[in-house]
Amino acid sequence: MIDLTNDTALNSAMERICSKIGDMGLKYYIETYGCQMNEHDSEKIAGMLVKCGYTKADSKQDADFILFNTCCVREHAELRTFGNVGFIKELKQLNPRLILGVCGCMMQQKDVADKLYKRFPFVDLIFGTHELKNFPFMLEKVLDNERIINISEMNGEVIEGLPVERTPGFSTFVNIMYGCNNFCTYCIVPYVRGRERSRRAEDVVNEVREVVALGYKEVTLLGQNVNSYYSDGVNFPKLLEMVNSVPGLTRLRFMTSHPKDLSDELIEAMAKLDKVGKHIHLPVQSGSDEILRRMNRRYTASQYLELVSKLRSKVKDVEITTDIIVGFPGETEEDFEATCDIVRKVGYSNAYTFAYSPREGTIAAKMPDQIAQEVKKQRLNKLNAVLAETIPCGNKKYIGFEGDILIEGVDHRAEPLLFGKLSNFKMVYVQGDEKLIGTMVHVKVDGLRFNSLFGHITD
Ligand code: SAH
Ligand code: SF4
Ligand code: F3S
Repeated sequence: MIDLTNDTALNSAMERICSKIGDMGLKYYIETYGCQMNEHDSEKIAGMLVKCGYTKADSKQDADFILFNTCCVREHAELRTFGNVGFIKELKQLNPRLILGVCGCMMQQKDVADKLYKRFPFVDLIFGTHELKNFPFMLEKVLDNERIINISEMNGEVIEGLPVERTPGFSTFVNIMYGCNNFCTYCIVPYVRGRERSRRAEDVVNEVREVVALGYKEVTLLGQNVNSYYSDGVNFPKLLEMVNSVPGLTRLRFMTSHPKDLSDELIEAMAKLDKVGKHIHLPVQSGSDEILRRMNRRYTASQYLELVSKLRSKVKDVEITTDIIVGFPGETEEDFEATCDIVRKVGYSNAYTFAYSPREGTIAAKMPDQIAQEVKKQRLNKLNAVLAETIPCGNKKYIGFEGDILIEGVDHRAEPLLFGKLSNFKMVYVQGDEKLIGTMVHVKVDGLRFNSLFGHITD
């Protein structure tokens, strides 16, 4: 572990930058792609930028430092990033002091980073996922007109003590681990995020205490596979128990859970711990045993269904969401039907669906029988239709249901309505005063609204 809380070199770099540019009123803008991991990394970079004397810009046009924090989990992310970077050229002509940086998972792929560096000479700074802690040193050089590209091999260290500029609101993220060891054959994440490493439980709990003191009510514990968290004798269910007892915390969520590591102990913890949301994001990926085997997921469809029924019997009102890939190499119509089948059997409350996208360097990209784009598209549409049918079915049982929601904001799509989520992630809309934002209220569900629930406040 590296603790940067009192790191003099880092702090003095940020102080030097601040004394150089602090009075210039410079602004930063970070555009983030990909998952919550990246969103949270962006909050850490923003934390360092604020220490360097920058303030947040409302738009790219307003900014003196623009950073794209990129994702490469699917191919289209890459195309979009290259397009967006190209667009900044014009802004650089309008604002000669504008600095452009690109970081994140896509930049951890050295060949892609090199291509971007060569193609866009106006990009000032490129760095990979393992370089976050060195950001102020790189920024200092860029401010001295150096062009930097910095992609290091994975060092596997847990970094503590970086400043964080959290998105305002009631809900925030806390990392519990980094990286992934699972090597699902379609997935690039283990290659760009490195090996799995867990933070110390004590550091996690302290950070949760800090965010509660800042006014956050809900914390989402983040990891590529939180179920395999382990540090000094503390496993994930024990960590949940420790965080659950932080005074002032209202709700506790976590993601993502790999089905192969979902233990009875975790199901018990979900059932018994009062602050833990009765919701689990449990990516199934496919309903076909043969495809699951070739994806290296290490469970079968029936093992997955067994977990679902265990969850349903032990955790009251639990809701399950998922990720699904269609068109994995060699997927037959039968395999695809098995996926539609499992979707009907589980009754998800939501699902993210993807057409398989070959990622260079992964095992599946080299597998024979890659599926034609057209077929992937058809299957994706068909699967989405099955979900559009099955998701609302699950909503009907909520009519008459009572529970607590944490009011998040006001929705203006039709008449203004407050909205917030039940413990199990179901969204409920209610009439009420805006002053209730950020508070927990008790509601009764009266009907359905779009894909969500509509009700009234009862206390
Ligand atoms: N660690 C998490 C999230 C991984 S990325 C997990 O294990 O669930 C989020 C989702 O993107 C995955 O669950 C998967 O459904 C999808 N995904 C990953 N690689 C993909 C690829 N090459 N093509 C299409 N979808 C992919
Ligand atoms: Fe990717 Fe699988 Fe790791 Fe999730 S568990 S990040 S899908 S390799
Ligand atoms: Fe997340 Fe995309 Fe990286 S999904 S871990 S930002 S490749």
